[in-house]
Amino acid sequence: GRRHGVRVRVRSGGHDYEGLSYLSLDPREPFALLDLAALRAVRVDPARAEAWVGSGATLGELYYAVAAASRALAFPAGVCPTVGVGGHLSGGGFGTLMRRYGLAADHVLDAVLVDASGRLLNRTTMGEDLFWAIRGGGGESFGVVLSWKLRLVRVPALVTVFTIRRSRKQSATHLIAKWQEIAPALPPDLYLRVYVRNQDAQFQSLFLGRCDRLVSLMRAHFSDLGMVRADCEEITWIQSTVYFAFHSSSKPLELLLDRGTKPDSYVKAKSDYVQVPIPWHVWESTWTWLAKQEAGILILDPYGGRMGRVAPSATPFPHRKGNLYNLQYYSSWSENGTDAFDKHMAWVRGLYKQMEPYVSKNPRTGYVNYRDLDLGRNELGDNVTSYAKAKVWGEKYFKGNFERLAAVKAMVDPDDFFRNEQSIPPLPAAK
Ligand code: FDA
Repeated sequence: GRRHGVRVRVRSGGHDYEGLSYLSLDPREPFALLDLAALRAVRVDPARAEAWVGSGATLGELYYAVAAASRALAFPAGVCPTVGVGGHLSGGGFGTLMRRYGLAADHVLDAVLVDASGRLLNRTTMGEDLFWAIRGGGGESFGVVLSWKLRLVRVPALVTVFTIRRSRKQSATHLIAKWQEIAPALPPDLYLRVYVRNQDAQFQSLFLGRCDRLVSLMRAHFSDLGMVRADCEEITWIQSTVYFAFHSSSKPLELLLDRGTKPDSYVKAKSDYVQVPIPWHVWESTWTWLAKQEAGILILDPYGGRMGRVAPSATPFPHRKGNLYNLQYYSSWSENGTDAFDKHMAWVRGLYKQMEPYVSKNPRTGYVNYRDLDLGRNELGDNVTSYAKAKVWGEKYFKGNFERLAAVKAMVDPDDFFRNEQSIPPLPAAK
């Protein structure tokens, strides 16, 4: 690429919300697509509780291989099995085990990367600054990560899941308002997220233990939800990944291996961090948004537990202590044309605007893996991405870690070979 003056965009699972792994918004930025889908071997060492995984593997392939090697081991990462390991680990990665074990990126022990000079590096040869940057600083900016060495985590032989649906008429507003304080403070073995769609809230849980204990915890902490023994399903951890992905635990585990490469819908998503519970009346007003024909869904992912015990500068992902939950606004549609596009975009952007007074401020933060170009786009100065312009979106994803990411970029790719609309710019030298 460098020899021919052609940039490279790297694609692992292709799930970037803005498609930046395979398209460029600027016609002056032609590129070659480096598709890593075939680099997807997973080698598990159950005795050491470690694994090497190629960036092109999906989370489903990783989970399947880990469980095939040992039912006592797992890996804490996202819920959607077709997400690629490469992009996911590059941006952090959270899912049902995060309250007990933190982010996927917190469990990276080593990595193999090709840098902008074409050198093949590992943790020792890349150095700790670059190793820090690739574990949450977002994909594309620092080189091509070929594979990752992961620390696996322990799970019990059986875990418990449940899904409880409450409609607006069954006091869903009251339950969501209460959930905001309860869920982030629950014991770390208990994850309870909320999916809000139409006029319903679905409370979905994974507990690293058995049903009896879960029932007593729910009674003690969240009796208003009315969870009872009959709501429980005791299954293996690997079945729980199928349960969360496909809403049923009885489907075959082999579904995790389906890479689902046929895109059939458009998506726009945005995200917020909530640090103070959003008032009841605001939740009540969201039902009007959710009743619209073009409405999407809201996903409330509780933090707390291990997420709050990692220092915000330990990795580039800064959203740790003090964040109650991640709030995602997600719209997907299959109709072609600008009318549908405009309607769905207006829904996501309108609700996001309405929530502004109630979410994190100065800056209003978001999650880099829920990429959102509305937050800002890079501009060039002297054929290098402008640091000052990039700060606008960069501090929303990375807060105080953005400057350190830019300093690492200046060290490893000062010519800005690896870049896209939201890549990390090189930090300008002090005048
Ligand atoms: P893709 O290949 O599009 O890459 C994303 C970015 O990383 C691009 O900029 C790309 O160039 C770069 N990149 C990719 N591979 C690289 C490599 N090997 N080296 C260097 N750069 C590389 N997140 C989450 O935390 N929890 C969740 O539960 C979910 N669930 C979810 C569901 C669905 C349906 C979608 C579409 C997305 C999610 N996500 C998520 C977000 C997901 O973590 C995020 O989109 C990841 O970046 C996707 O990684 P892919 O490799 O699939 O994307």
